[in-house]
Amino acid sequence: MSEAKMRVLITGGAGFIGSHSAEVLRARGIELTVLDNLSTGHLDNLSSLGGRFRFLEGDVRDPEALNSAMEGCQAVLHLAALVSVPESIRSPLLAHAINATGTLNVLEAARAQGIKRVVLASSAAVYGENQNLPLGEGEAAQSLSPYAAQKYLGEVYASIYSHLQGMSPVCLRYFNVFGPRQDPASPYSGVLSLFIEALVQGKKATIFGDGGATRDFVYVEDVALANLLAILAPESSEPLIFNVGTGKRTSILQAFEAVREAAGVQATPAFAPPREGDIVHSCADIGRARASLGYHPRFSFSEGITRTVAWSQGGNA
Ligand SMILES: NC(=O)c1ccc[n+]([C@@H]2O[C@H](COP(=O)([O-])OP(=O)(O)OC[C@H]3O[C@@H](n4cnc5c(N)ncnc54)[C@H](O)[C@@H]3O)[C@@H](O)[C@H]2O)c1
Repeated sequence: MSEAKMRVLITGGAGFIGSHSAEVLRARGIELTVLDNLSTGHLDNLSSLGGRFRFLEGDVRDPEALNSAMEGCQAVLHLAALVSVPESIRSPLLAHAINATGTLNVLEAARAQGIKRVVLASSAAVYGENQNLPLGEGEAAQSLSPYAAQKYLGEVYASIYSHLQGMSPVCLRYFNVFGPRQDPASPYSGVLSLFIEALVQGKKATIFGDGGATRDFVYVEDVALANLLAILAPESSEPLIFNVGTGKRTSILQAFEAVREAAGVQATPAFAPPREGDIVHSCADIGRARASLGYHPRFSFSEGITRTVAWSQGGNA
């Protein structure tokens, strides 16, 4: 199908990754429907679209809302989730209802509407403590939290819908996504947005552990691009799972320095004991996404940091 004649439903489209994905899709002439319950997302995040999308305030736990949201759509980008790992530990049933049953609801509504391509937001969290770096998609899942288990279950359901229903889902395992509009006020926000908020406001940033832990930080516009590529990828009889990261490791200390430099401040971090359950190292092997989707991250870590700091200092997202 030509992109220009396409309508895509984005669940969670008013959130951080959702709003950037909406901009990338809209720039390609794709029509958009957004379903969001606005629990952590904000309509302001979509202000650059000037209202050029259909918005439904609704919940992925509600099959009826999904059915009407999918009307006229040819693909679904499913991002809505309870994204807090600690919250999923405190409230596993609520998290399951949103993340696991919600994803099943999305697949089921898509099946009913004859929509084959559903792109599911999975997570590097499914690898848990697996330290066989860089992590290829064939590495064992070692889910350590209800959140990770629910994301993994979504992938399993995607596989079942591919084999039994002839659908063509794509699961994207995002690594540590950062960029403008990531909410530092949220208790589970990424380490980078917490550093940026602290340094831009002249407060002390805290590093848990010695700062030697490493992450694969991927800029949100590259994730939005991966989402577009996954929506447009040719149909396949196999469910497709792809890592979305950069293939590069940055230590927490290096990340702090990069933020400090971009913010133009003199500061040293406070150090606190490591947090229980924090993974030591994480890094994606993105060879499969490169080869099959043509995914090539365009933003270096420092460029992404410069843009995110500028946004946080009052610039445009
Ligand atoms: N940010 C990351 O580093 C990261 C990493 C791996 C995976 N992910 C996944 O990417 C997706 C998007 O995450 P994000 O970082 O943009 O978070 P976000 O909180 O900014 O976005 C989630 C959106 O979903 C909406 N939502 C939540 N529950 C809903 C429900 N029951 N019904 C309808 N809408 C609902 C929220 O209002 C919000 O707009 C999530 O599925 C998340 O698990 C994110």
